[in-house]
Amino acid sequence: MSTKHPKDKFYEQIFKVFGVRFMGNGLLTDRNYDHWHKQRRIMDPAFSRPYLMGLMGTFNEKVEELMEQLNEIADKKTEVNMHTLLNRMTLDVIAKVAFDMDLNALHDDQTPFPRAILMAMKGLVEIRNPLVYFMPSKKKMIQEVRDSIHLLRKTGKECIERRQKMVQDGVEVPTDILTQILRGAALEEDYDIEIMIDNFVTFFIAGQETTANQLAFAVQELSRHPKILQKVQAEVDEVIGSRRDIEYDDLGKLQYLSQVLKETLRLYPPAPGTSRLLEDDILVEGVLIPKGTPVVVNTYVTGRMEQFFHDPLIFDPDRFSRDSPKPYFTYFPFSLGPRSCIGQVFAQMEAKVVMAKLLQRFEFQLVEGHTFKIQDTGTLRPMDGTRCHLRVREKQ
Ligand code: HEM
Repeated sequence: MSTKHPKDKFYEQIFKVFGVRFMGNGLLTDRNYDHWHKQRRIMDPAFSRPYLMGLMGTFNEKVEELMEQLNEIADKKTEVNMHTLLNRMTLDVIAKVAFDMDLNALHDDQTPFPRAILMAMKGLVEIRNPLVYFMPSKKKMIQEVRDSIHLLRKTGKECIERRQKMVQDGVEVPTDILTQILRGAALEEDYDIEIMIDNFVTFFIAGQETTANQLAFAVQELSRHPKILQKVQAEVDEVIGSRRDIEYDDLGKLQYLSQVLKETLRLYPPAPGTSRLLEDDILVEGVLIPKGTPVVVNTYVTGRMEQFFHDPLIFDPDRFSRDSPKPYFTYFPFSLGPRSCIGQVFAQMEAKVVMAKLLQRFEFQLVEGHTFKIQDTGTLRPMDGTRCHLRVREKQ
């Protein structure tokens, strides 16, 4: 929580992956407090409540495109990999909202971006093994990781240059994340396009993968808890009825759905940990941890400890009801303190719009043999991809 302890040196491994600049000195990886603080202050307006409220139209529109696709799948009675589609939809959302780009990943099977993000993230996992460079079997993977990062950065560069030209030509531009990235870079002493590209890549990835994973995990858990599903469906029916668009005011009324999403993050936090390098000695429960020690805290671990959560492996959204005691520094899926997730409210607004529309319109059933296993691809995601069958709900 304290700004005194910088992020651990581990974050330097995300600066470059396999020799290629990846997230560089972007908001997530910046270890210098003063530099980071300047960046964060500039970025904040793109995450203010009034600005986020204005995104409800885009959230509704993009999620509606997903619903249309799910309708077709339900009609054909074919199996669907929900995680894949959720991933593509959240990518379309972040591209539009943050960078005013129409990626159309949901409909374009050939789009290279989901694979590029997957491979870049895979690189983060693979570099944990110092021998990876010497393993012939990894050569192809390393090249694909490099190519993927090049593609993401090239896309970022083109997007930034397009926007710079619009600004020069006096064309009106939205106050989106890209505008804030440009403003932040303009304040740098050494004006450098690379740092803008760092932030493009940071938001392109951080703003998408995590939300898709949370949603896929939520679908999984609801599929195996019919009573919880019924209760959350009833809430959606009461608050939204058969309305097509979800309003900002509806989100606050979907209290039980919030609890379902929070409980999902307790058991399945897509970004489970954070780490700091101790600037001073600290004493924890009588144990001295010396200055210079890297300290990792992990919400996946604390979230599954009996000491903090009764029957921790049971999925129970009532743990987060208004009357229940709040977890005390034992639940932090968005991290805590000044370096916590800037996109937390954005992500949960988007997640609620997706879940509300999905629950309003569909019943879903996981395919037989679904394992519920978790895969670590830099973020945690469902290993089986949440493959299921859909049916249009009869009564809405
Ligand atoms: C369910 C969705 C999400 C989860 C679980 C999540 C989780 C987290 C966590 C745990 C951190 C701290 C990482 C660390 O300490 O290393 C973080 C930071 C960050 N997240 Fe998220 N995130 C989510 C969605 C988003 C979205 C939608 C955006 C952008 C639109 C975003 C942008 C960022 C950025 C830029 C940071 C770095 C903040 C800073 O250091 O100032 N995240 N997120």
